[in-house]
Amino acid sequence: MEIIESIENMQRRADELRSAGHTISLVPTMGFLHEGHLELMRVAKKHSDKLVMSLFVNPTQFGPTEDYGQYPRDTEGDLEKALGVGVDMVFMPSVEEMYPEGSQTKVHVERVTQHLCGISRPTHFDGVTTVVAKLFNIVKPHLAVFGQKDFQQLTVISRMVMDLNMDIKILGVPTVREPDGLAMSSRNNYLSDDERKSALCLKKSLDLANKMFQEGERGAGIIRDAIESLIRDHPFTDIDYVSICDSTSLEDIGIMRDESLVALAVRVGKIRLIDNRVLRKN
Ligand code: PAJ
Repeated sequence: MEIIESIENMQRRADELRSAGHTISLVPTMGFLHEGHLELMRVAKKHSDKLVMSLFVNPTQFGPTEDYGQYPRDTEGDLEKALGVGVDMVFMPSVEEMYPEGSQTKVHVERVTQHLCGISRPTHFDGVTTVVAKLFNIVKPHLAVFGQKDFQQLTVISRMVMDLNMDIKILGVPTVREPDGLAMSSRNNYLSDDERKSALCLKKSLDLANKMFQEGERGAGIIRDAIESLIRDHPFTDIDYVSICDSTSLEDIGIMRDESLVALAVRVGKIRLIDNRVLRKN
């Protein structure tokens, strides 16, 4: 497994691989890898013959009061896991390498960034699209793989790729969960035992929404109210948003469609967790 820290070297290796006829896939990560990340790598590997993982905790996607400084890191463990799933190259630049002095360009996607997480994290998606566009220009992948756990991120990146005519295929992979249903996240480790129990209210909410929908409920407000009261029954929780929305535009809806998205962000103690599910008629 090659470990590459400079942009120049990564671009040169990408050119060499492309000239030799290889297909390159990219899985962007911020490290502290868990099974969810590893599943993206397995999928990426199936669709390409050279797999690049990027490992970069991107400061520009954290707000001023968010946990950039506290974001968990374990480079050694990450490299071991990457090796274990057959990653061919790890691109792990420094912050100075990615954002040298004088850097002043951003990629901004307009409407789909305004809903869900965009409301409480107004600068987050500009940070994500800018770093992902840079990674695409550096790694030059044919294919990039993202998790549906961050449904809005996947939507925003797909929109960017479409709007800017980037010649890259985007693949979304279903959320990987703990045995009890909690969506895997690098931040789960920060939950206390009691908070960890309360955190199950996210998955329970999605199950409840699905049950109500399958039993015929079509009022999005009624489903949302039921979710909010389920969450409030769990200690340590504080709702950021519960949204029932169109799965493409991410705009809130009043009446359930044949396909709608339920998306949640809930603080459990100090940790903000997200989860989502697309509801479709069985
Ligand atoms: P990070 O949170 O490290 O996530 C990297 C990728 O793993 C994302 O595509 C995310 O959706 C996916 N992922 C996380 N948890 C998952 C789970 N339980 N099941 C399936 N996939 C999961 O997302 C980011 O980093 C950053 O915003 C990034 C795209 C790297 C840009 O900095």
